[in-house]
Amino acid sequence: MTSSSLRKRKKRLRILKNKRVLLGITGGIAAYKSIDLARRLGDEGASVVVAMTEAAKQFVTPLSLEVASQNKVYTSLFDEPMAHISLPSSADVMVIAPATADIIAKFAHGIADDLLSTCFLSYSGKVVIAPSMNWRMYENRIFGENLRKLLSTGVVQVGPERGDLACGEEGIGRMAEPAEIVETVMSALTEKDLAGEKMVITAGPTREYLDPVRFISNRSSGKMGYALARAARDRGASVILISGPSYLKKPQGVGFVGVETSAQMMKSVKQSVQGDTTVLVMAAAVADFSPAVTSRTKIEKTGDLNIPFRQTEDIISSVLGAGKRPYIIGFAAETGNNIARAQKKMKVKNMDMVVFNDVTEAGAGFDVDTNKVVIIDRKGKTRLEVMSKDSVADAIFDRFIEIKA
Ligand code: PMT
Repeated sequence: MTSSSLRKRKKRLRILKNKRVLLGITGGIAAYKSIDLARRLGDEGASVVVAMTEAAKQFVTPLSLEVASQNKVYTSLFDEPMAHISLPSSADVMVIAPATADIIAKFAHGIADDLLSTCFLSYSGKVVIAPSMNWRMYENRIFGENLRKLLSTGVVQVGPERGDLACGEEGIGRMAEPAEIVETVMSALTEKDLAGEKMVITAGPTREYLDPVRFISNRSSGKMGYALARAARDRGASVILISGPSYLKKPQGVGFVGVETSAQMMKSVKQSVQGDTTVLVMAAAVADFSPAVTSRTKIEKTGDLNIPFRQTEDIISSVLGAGKRPYIIGFAAETGNNIARAQKKMKVKNMDMVVFNDVTEAGAGFDVDTNKVVIIDRKGKTRLEVMSKDSVADAIFDRFIEIKA
């Protein structure tokens, strides 16, 4: 791996460092979450300047936002002459959270009658909106048209989520959580160097059923595969994530298929890998063995149990047989520093790249946030230190881009 790709990866993970975020806050109950959002953006190294609407001040005070952002808060067109030009022109990204139906309608129609709407009209950079409102408003046809119009100009949407709403009803309309908004802002600012790639990524464990209530599985959490899906999405690829059972939150903006068994994962991979799929990443810990017979009823306790297992069909090999093949990135989960075994897997399964991880090492493998890998491809090996699974995902795609170049 070249030092320039290492630099690029680190840069992506610190993408908000020294960036200027113009945070617009409008009048919705979720405005209280924007205090946390301002703080989190600041934690990522961004300098946050807040522009609040009059209605926002009914929900949260400018002073709270001044403390959270450690910057002057703007609330009126007349706070400072030309603020509607100077604030956007120095911003790297504009984030509107919460974004009410009113501000979305104004943005979509070019209405500029207060500081925030005027800032938006004079801004030509990336804009992220986090809508928040009652579900009846969110599902209103006219609102839907406004939203679609706004998104068609390149504005990026995050949320809303379904759940309990402030009005006591349940439905879609809860503002996305601040952590997710930060993630979306980082994604919006990331260089789209995987644009045009169509990826199928697998994650998590599979479950192989002995009977309706018992299964064998493994310790995979899905963290590695989900990190790959997020990184590929952020870098512009279109992604289908096929996941075994996982407690992780589905990443936004990727196609998602949930499966349980290795047979279901096989079926789903075969259906998802089409002629135009460019990359298959197999990060899932697919069971190698499955009970030869699954009992229809709960197996009774009558003494020791001997169950014959059959080897499962290999998913990677099955995709290889399907005509035009995508670039195949597999993983090798080894118990010990057995790189030769990973290389053998790569050869036997005809993979283009294999990511070796010794799952017995501290900070590597199953259910931890970090991994320690060796990326092996047809040209050589890249040994990486322990790093977050997000960084490992970026390193894998950096190497893929290097090889393709
Ligand atoms: O999910 P986490 O908690 O974050 O943990 C991450 C991880 C340890 C699961 C991940 O880093 C990892 O190593 N995934 C691959 C685990 C595995 O099944 O390795 P393997 O060496 O047994 O298999 C080699 C490759 O063949 C893998 O890409 C696997 O997906 C694939 N395979 C395996 C069995 C099968 N029937 N079909 C397959 O295609």
